[in-house]
Amino acid sequence: MKYVITIDGPTGSGKSTISRLVAKRLNCPYLDTGAMYRVVALALKRGGIPLSDEPAVANTCDNLDIRFVPGHDTNRVYMDDEDVSEPIREPDMDLFASDVSKLDVVRKAMTTLQRKIGAQGPLVAEGRDMGTVVFPEARHKFYVDASTEVRVERRYQERKNRGEFISLKQVREDLIKRDRQDMKRSLAPLKPSMDAVIIDTTDLSIDQVIEQIVGKIEQKRD
Ligand code: C5P
Repeated sequence: MKYVITIDGPTGSGKSTISRLVAKRLNCPYLDTGAMYRVVALALKRGGIPLSDEPAVANTCDNLDIRFVPGHDTNRVYMDDEDVSEPIREPDMDLFASDVSKLDVVRKAMTTLQRKIGAQGPLVAEGRDMGTVVFPEARHKFYVDASTEVRVERRYQERKNRGEFISLKQVREDLIKRDRQDMKRSLAPLKPSMDAVIIDTTDLSIDQVIEQIVGKIEQKRD
């Protein structure tokens, strides 16, 4: 766990790109924990399982095989033998994954799985509760953030590039709603760990953020 680098932050903070590039620079794997919650959400949706049916939700988590397979640029996400990298990013999965991630049984199952992966060796783990809950002993913790308008714009471009027809207004509403839900929930809410380095990426390029993070990691090396 000591060799885990945690990167948490809200939607559009740039954490996915940043985590992937930091991992590449350090030559270690990265773990997209948001994708894990999205896979659970997809499995529940497809199975028609109501979120109020705790035993069925727990059973789904227990029987789910979530795997990451290195792809050309990003990792591909597999649910059992199916590549679900695209379906988990369908627009309706954003808020639904957030709803699913509020459940205690789901968080317990994902936390266990994430710690198992973290125990295997150096890792860059990105999400909402990496530094606060899943890897409290991590040696390097970062929290990346940016102004709401910049995050909305980044998210808008991302969704447009995916071929979605969406207005900036809708993206803003969705982003604010989801972040509020992630910050206000009782279990593992999105917040910086007390010992995290906070980086405001509003006016920084991705390269500048990577340099800051790698610089901090090298400074602390013993
Ligand atoms: O990062 P991404 O947008 O893919 O995450 C989808 C949702 O999964 C988030 O809105 C959040 O509710 C949940 N999540 C979480 N804890 C994490 C990562 C993601 O609760 N470590």
